[in-house]
Amino acid sequence: MTFPVDTWYVACTPDEIADKPLGRRICGEPIAFYRGPEGRVAAVEDWCPHRGAPLSLGYVDKGKLVCGYHGLEMGCDGKTVHMPGQRVRGFPAIRTYPVVERHGFIWVWPGDPALADSSLIPELQWANNPEWAYGGGLYHIACDYRLMIDNLMDLTHETYVHSTSIGQKEIDETPCTTRTEGDTVITSRFMDGIEAPPFWKMALRANGLPEDQPVDRWQICRFTPPSHVIIEVGVALAGRGGYDAPREAKASSTVVDFITPETTTSIWYFWGMARNFKPEDEALTASIREGQGKIFAEDLEMLERQQKNLLQWPGRSLLKLNIDTGGVQARRVIDRLIAAEQGTSVALAAN
Ligand code: FES
Ligand SMILES: [Fe+2]
Repeated sequence: MTFPVDTWYVACTPDEIADKPLGRRICGEPIAFYRGPEGRVAAVEDWCPHRGAPLSLGYVDKGKLVCGYHGLEMGCDGKTVHMPGQRVRGFPAIRTYPVVERHGFIWVWPGDPALADSSLIPELQWANNPEWAYGGGLYHIACDYRLMIDNLMDLTHETYVHSTSIGQKEIDETPCTTRTEGDTVITSRFMDGIEAPPFWKMALRANGLPEDQPVDRWQICRFTPPSHVIIEVGVALAGRGGYDAPREAKASSTVVDFITPETTTSIWYFWGMARNFKPEDEALTASIREGQGKIFAEDLEMLERQQKNLLQWPGRSLLKLNIDTGGVQARRVIDRLIAAEQGTSVALAAN
């Protein structure tokens, strides 16, 4: 397996299970997500014990998941509750998955349920905080989740892939630095006295700041396992302290990326942006979301085509340049976690 499974992944957002079950494959496991008794979120194998139909094609009735084929009623403990005209006591149980609704997302633990500890779900500074606003979306992308981590831990690609919005030549002219703190990998780049690219001009304008003056720009990418990349980005009027500039001299935000493997070569990519300026401005949230959605769609084609190339020529070696250090370090952390789950040493996993 190329991904850790004894960990929490974002499975979906609450709106996706508002009125019907959702079938979604996570780490290779087909899972049906739905709201069980008292509206609590539940996750069971997407497999009806009767004839193997996907339970997610059914519906929810009074907290029970009803198979859409012949009406079997499944409980959130994986045991059949009822089936018209049948005695169900001997029906085999199906697998259930630990699942928690928190911070505006539904989190699932695809591995050993005995190890699931909800205190391991990351704290999100912006969730349930009136000083922050959040907008985001979901893309399905046919690539290994680690290719997306590489993409986000090295923003040099912005100059080329996102040339009309956030890209600018100063990005690849400015070296980035990478450091590791425990399981966290941090890549940062600071560009001083530059012209803001179009996206940031828009953000400066929205924040009541001039857009025609030089700015200091920063990008600080943080990877934490299994596959979260949170990126602090922003611009400040030049010479006001950059990242540490007072709030009234800058426009900044947090790019949020939760990358959930669907299979070894496809992902559910939950992207978003959290900001702590003008949090009440819903029109601004919508326009940032639209802009970010377009920017992230530009990565999609590149990643899917890269994955196709890698599948076609699996034996070809890839270069590891200094701009790739963040992704390389993140993979080291991931390899260590997978080896620990499998009870083997990292040295063995590397061979
Ligand atoms: S397959 Fe589900 S009730 Fe028959
Ligand atoms: Fe990108």
